[in-house]
Order: sequence, then C-alpha cells, then structure tokens
Amino acid sequence: MNNHWNKVIYRFWAPFYDYLFNSGPFLKARKTIFENLEIKPKSKVLFVGVGTGADLRFIIGKDVAVTAIDLSPDMLDRAKNKYDSPNVKFMEMDAQDLTFTPESFDMVIANLILSVVPDPNQCFQEMIRVTRTEGRIIIFNKFAPSSEDLPLIKKIIRPVVAMMGTDIGRHFEPIIVPYENYIQVEEDASALFNGMYRKIMLRKTEKEDVII
Ligand SMILES: C[S@@+](CC[C@H](N)C(=O)[O-])C[C@H]1O[C@@H](n2cnc3c(N)ncnc32)[C@H](O)[C@@H]1O
Repeated sequence: MNNHWNKVIYRFWAPFYDYLFNSGPFLKARKTIFENLEIKPKSKVLFVGVGTGADLRFIIGKDVAVTAIDLSPDMLDRAKNKYDSPNVKFMEMDAQDLTFTPESFDMVIANLILSVVPDPNQCFQEMIRVTRTEGRIIIFNKFAPSSEDLPLIKKIIRPVVAMMGTDIGRHFEPIIVPYENYIQVEEDASALFNGMYRKIMLRKTEKEDVII
C-alpha cells in the first residue's frame, strides 16, 4: 500500500463509501464508539483520515473545535459538502506526517485508518505526538486477532484486499508496544463482527503515571 495508490483507490470509493461503510452495521458500530464519550467544552479534536466525514455527526454541535485531515481530496470533498461549519477545519494531509505541533489536541479520533495508511507505526507515532498529555485517542478499526497467525485464506486474499485500499492482516499490539509506558489502554472491546473491528480508547499519560 502506498499514498499514491490510496489517492487513486479512494477517488474510486468516494461516491459509494457512505452506502457501504456509513450505514447498517457500520453505522450502528460507529454510534457505539461515540456513545458516552466524554468531551470537555472547548476541546480540540483531530480526525485522522476523516474520509467522507461519517463520524463528524457525533462531534459537531458539541462545543469543540474540530480539525479533520485526509490524504484524498475526493473523500475530503464529500465531508466538506456535508459539514460546512466554522467549527470544522478540513485539511489535505498525510496522517504519517502531521503538520501540527506536539500536544495540539485533546482528542484524536482515528477510525478505519490504521489498516489503510502505508505505515501504521508512523501514523500512530504521529497521533501520539499531537495528543496532549491526559488527552485521549479513539480508534475504531479492524485488526487481526492478537494471538493468532493469519489463517491461510486471509494470507492469500490479503494482497488483493490491500489493492482495494485496506489491509486485513495488521495487528494492533505491536503498534502500541513502544509506547506502553505512557499510553494507557482504557478500553479494548469488540465493536463489530465478533471482534474483527475493535473500539480502542487510549489515554496519554505522564510517563510515570502508568502502573504496570
Ligand atoms: C477506510 S477510509 C476511513 C474514513 C473514515 N475515517 C471513516 O471512518 O469512514 C480510509 C481513509 O483514509 C484515507 N487515507 C489513506 N491514506 C492516508 C494517509 N496517508 N493520510 C491520511 N489519510 C489517508 C483515505 O483517503 C480514506 O479517506
């Protein structure tokens, strides 16, 4: 997977995306990600890979400042057309190379992006960098089960599915390992399809805060 191809494939997906991934079980799962989510007034919220803005409805209207980035102008245009609000700033940007200063955001939301960017480790590192200490990172994503090697069928279809813009073989656990002394997992639960998609809530702490 690479950025050039992601732009091409998400130009293709943009007109259909909401029909497939912003309705039915996906919409239901998205609602569960955001229910009971505490956001303080005036918070600064970053959507990483906002796509067509499927999750903006859960945040806009709250008293927060939203920044939403995506690599694909076609996906971003769909989001912009839906949410023409002074409280949302849309930016075309690579999630692996965010242009924000460290600790810029109170909350970073990364839904269906860690399986899409070419380098999920680099993307995650950037998300942590721009989250303020005591801030939260929300992830809704599919990951391969932590303990298992990929089944043969998944190994075979993985490159084909990757051509369509997503990687079905990534694990979350190795991505978080380098940050375990200051990124605390507050929740890691099944969100959809028996745990294939997970809701993961993280808190960035002062390094000595986490009790191991
Ligand atoms: C599966 S969609 C998810 C969109 C949205 N977060 C959602 O939950 O519906 C993946 C998104 O990641 C974007 N993307 C792919 N590579 C990216 C990159 N390097 N930086 C930022 N966004 C990227 C795509 O353009 C697409 O909008």
